[in-house]
Amino acid sequence: MNEPHNLQAAVRFDPQWRGRLAEGVEPAIVASKLNHYYGTGELRKQVLYDNCLEIYPGEIIIMTGPSGSGKTTLLTLIGTLRRVQDGELTVLGQELHKATSSQLMRLRREIGFIFQAHNLFDSLTALQNVRMSLELVAPHQSQQQQSEQAKEMLTAVGLGQRTGHKPKQLSGGQKQRVAIARGLVHKPRLVLADEPTAALDEQSGRAVVELFKQMAKRDLVSIVIVTHDNRILDVADRIVNLVDGRIRSDVLVQEAAIVSQMLARCEIFSHLTPRSLAEMADQLVAEQIPEGSRVIREGDPGDKFYLIRQGRVSVRKGADDRELAQLGEGDFFGETALLTGQPRNASIVTLTDSTLYSLSQEKFNFAVGQRASVVDEIRTSLFDRQ
Ligand SMILES: Nc1ncnc2c1ncn2[C@@H]1O[C@H](COP(=O)(O)OP(=O)(O)O)[C@@H](O)[C@H]1O
Ligand SMILES: [Mg+2]
Repeated sequence: MNEPHNLQAAVRFDPQWRGRLAEGVEPAIVASKLNHYYGTGELRKQVLYDNCLEIYPGEIIIMTGPSGSGKTTLLTLIGTLRRVQDGELTVLGQELHKATSSQLMRLRREIGFIFQAHNLFDSLTALQNVRMSLELVAPHQSQQQQSEQAKEMLTAVGLGQRTGHKPKQLSGGQKQRVAIARGLVHKPRLVLADEPTAALDEQSGRAVVELFKQMAKRDLVSIVIVTHDNRILDVADRIVNLVDGRIRSDVLVQEAAIVSQMLARCEIFSHLTPRSLAEMADQLVAEQIPEGSRVIREGDPGDKFYLIRQGRVSVRKGADDRELAQLGEGDFFGETALLTGQPRNASIVTLTDSTLYSLSQEKFNFAVGQRASVVDEIRTSLFDRQ
């Protein structure tokens, strides 16, 4: 068999896999080996370690992780609010580690910032606060145009009736929504939001999330949201988890769901809860296998379980390599040898270029072992068949 290349946990974000899906699309953000430190001398402390990240136009990323794990630091680096110290970071085509101040200024106009610390101006109305973003970014627009655009955005966040109110006359949640409108009004290509919905009730939170979705899908805006608010998890295309300054996981939500559903259809995993299935999906490794490869050879010891994500394979047996069956997307193979400890009882040859997800024997055993009786049943039924 050809050596699989590009091994990667299946549902983890994989630039190559994604690159094929969105051919020719440049990422909006590319971070490579990004390190960051605070303090100097004895007090110098590293808070980000070797982080690599790619974010594409139209993607909504939810970034989670314990307090102090470096989420805000990463967000402020991407937003050019801090200087890149070590590693490379490219945002909307601009290499930040090489950028001049005027290049950074230009770039900032294309970014929408929604940070809790971003205070509103007390002496200005909600409308004026929001319009300020436009005055900086689109000075060529008439004041009336700017006001209309600001009003539209305030309406979108549910504050159409409060455009004349000053911050003091607004609740915490309403102020937060003004800050959101201000971060979005100039139609940025990238939105960076730190806990944008924390202070919002269910309904306002929903309105903001819908706005994010619309911007991402319609205008291909990339949106990075740092949040602990699990009410808005459904908006995420990807969930990036940061722990102790390192990206611990980067999961494609849709792909994880597809794979979990495929796994759920396998009899041997039908006892697993959705959560265990999702955890298992995260353990799978994607293998790109060219057409005509022998993935499994009859008589070899079993080492992995396979799920077909894309492509077709042929099941073959005997000296004449006779075809017994064909398998396609969502089908799986390789479990028998793992369950019985016997050598492979057939060969598998790819009929097309295929993407297979594989699981090592150890992880397979762990997943299946969660209900021993099922394993015993399968052993018995296979035994009877002989
Ligand atoms: N301005 C700063 N000076 C020194 N240390 C900081 C500064 N900002 C954050 N830190 C430290 O860096 C680490 C990461 O912080 P932060 O990026 O705010 O994490 P998070 O947003 O995930 O809570 C924490 O240990 C925090 O104490
Ligand atoms: Mg933070």
